[in-house]
Amino acid sequence: MNKIESRIQELRRELELHNYNYYVLSNPTIPDREFDEMMKELERMEEEHPEYAGPHSPTQRVGSDLSKEFEQVPHRYPMLSLSNTYSEEEVRDFFDRVSRALNEPFEIVAELKYDGTSISLIYEKGLLVRAVTRGDGTRGDDVTANVKTIRSIPLKLRGEEYPEEFEIRGEILLPWAEFDRLNKERTEQDEPLFANPRNAASGTLKQQNAAIVASRRLDGYFYYLLGENLPADGHYENLVFARTWGFKIPDVIRKYDTVEGIFDYIAYWDIERKNLPVATDGIVLKVNSIQQQRNLGFTAKSPRWAIAYKFQAEQALTRLNSVSFQIGRTGTVTPVANLEPVLLSGTTVKRASLHNEDIIRELDLHIGDMVYVEKGGEIIPKIVGVDVEARSLLIGDQIQFIKYCPECKTLLIRPEGEAAHYCPNESGCPPQIKGRIVHFVTRRAMDIGIGPETIEDLYNAGLVKNAADLYALTIPELLGLERWAEKSAQNLIHSLERSREVPFERVVYALGIRFVGETVARRLITVFHSMEQLQQASLETLTEVNEIGGRIAQSILDYFADPKNRQMVARLREYGLQMEVAEEKLLDRSDKLKGLTIVISGTFSRYSRDEYKEMIEQNGGKNSGSVSKKTDYILAGENMGPAKLEKAAKLGIKIINEDEFLNMLAE
Ligand code: IVH
Repeated sequence: MNKIESRIQELRRELELHNYNYYVLSNPTIPDREFDEMMKELERMEEEHPEYAGPHSPTQRVGSDLSKEFEQVPHRYPMLSLSNTYSEEEVRDFFDRVSRALNEPFEIVAELKYDGTSISLIYEKGLLVRAVTRGDGTRGDDVTANVKTIRSIPLKLRGEEYPEEFEIRGEILLPWAEFDRLNKERTEQDEPLFANPRNAASGTLKQQNAAIVASRRLDGYFYYLLGENLPADGHYENLVFARTWGFKIPDVIRKYDTVEGIFDYIAYWDIERKNLPVATDGIVLKVNSIQQQRNLGFTAKSPRWAIAYKFQAEQALTRLNSVSFQIGRTGTVTPVANLEPVLLSGTTVKRASLHNEDIIRELDLHIGDMVYVEKGGEIIPKIVGVDVEARSLLIGDQIQFIKYCPECKTLLIRPEGEAAHYCPNESGCPPQIKGRIVHFVTRRAMDIGIGPETIEDLYNAGLVKNAADLYALTIPELLGLERWAEKSAQNLIHSLERSREVPFERVVYALGIRFVGETVARRLITVFHSMEQLQQASLETLTEVNEIGGRIAQSILDYFADPKNRQMVARLREYGLQMEVAEEKLLDRSDKLKGLTIVISGTFSRYSRDEYKEMIEQNGGKNSGSVSKKTDYILAGENMGPAKLEKAAKLGIKIINEDEFLNMLAE
């Protein structure tokens, strides 16, 4: 194989991997810009050496987000992407190219480039008939049921002036505020966080359960109309029409006939975008006249009449002092860069995520390197490059990914096809053991009044190696430790005592079985009324439970297959924890609230919010977080929020207090 052919092969392999990370795993591992540069290099090489071009090269497709569970449908018009530019020169080149090719006056529409996941909607006779993801550009997933839950997307158009049949494309977005709320909730529930709103949006859209989609309050912004009988020849004018049909068309779109006007727009939004409720990553420029668009046509991958200009993410340059490797509760190894503190977008950055081995290798990192950190849409900053020029002769060692767990010295594993390393020593690796105990005692699990530091002390003293050991603790043992007094020791013993009353569903959650969060635990116990039943469940009986898929079921089977886990559960039983659904709860079930959606708001005196939530569900009702037309009642306590109150009044929703609610159940 000659040099050229091997470089082409290498680029294809790399690009395929990144395509997979981005579209299938929703977990991109390199900046878009680098990806684009690699793609450009490959395109150039294939053009110059057509003997090596082929139908399976990544240059021949536009990425795939197909997943098994949804029905795949063909796009009437292929969903192409835009070519990206990063400089004003390239924008000027585009403008000049269009000008030369058309050789007549033209207008350019400037829009924001929204950073979500693209969607195509088909409307017939004013009704939404289908919503399809981009997929591989020619076929996508039919996600109509999920899209219908997005409140800003019209199911039925307004007015009568719309074409009989058309397609509209846009972006599904998770607003920043929702993104923050979701991640806060996930922190509390010990679930992995979303890296950015785009991943959260595409992940949500691919949920099998439309109710979860609805609870996440996605939004849809639209920017492209397609069809045979559109109302105008101008792209801009068509969007203005579409706005009157009920679509959310951003009102920041503008028309320009000079390149200077476009530069002003770019400069303005580069700053102002920080105040928008949703993520944007650039500007899109489109020739306005559809006739002129047709004259310009398409390349294999993108239109010649449009480009994207990508904003430069804010960066800072600082020194890499060291790299540490952290082990999570489930054994995942996370490499973390320790940096010389530096100010970036208003906060001081001391650490950055390095994600995995491939990224470290790609960056060719050395201790002491000056590195560029970037915050983009992510919460955790990342290293995007090294200032190689700044390297001196005194440069430190190249960073190597560790082979053994830094905590328990077990050989790490990297499962085939995955980027992450794991420590497989579940039962002997200290951070994994401590992490599971920390989870066990959290407020929403067993609610035992101790924190991570105390667990660290108890573990180090050799007193506690798993959750069951907590119940064997004695006051003299505790008093033998540093910083423990009679009072605190008694408190812990009382707290443990009280936890024996914690209901069964929270005991199931507290075990920390992978993928078994609070919701899953609650579902499981509706079918399996005791730990014994759960322990004996088969793959079939587990997957029969509403919303429990193969992945969760397998994880439960694996958990109980381990004799150490079975033994610990047996000890917890001996210590008197709730191992079955309380009898009165089984009796408490009814259909009294069947079909009713109830929103809980404010603070209560008789029972807690969680208890009310449970009562609603136990009696066949649905508890929802936000007031809408679908809400039947608001169960209001003290200090109900004014926004909710106003909305309820506007929609004419009945507000009931605690007593009225309890009466409904007693009737
Ligand atoms: S127009 C043929 N306009 O960027 C042109 N796309 O790389 C179709 N995007 O897949 C796209 N904001 O998901 C267009 N104002 C905008 C956009 C936009 C975001 C996304 C879209 C598309 C990708 C193109």
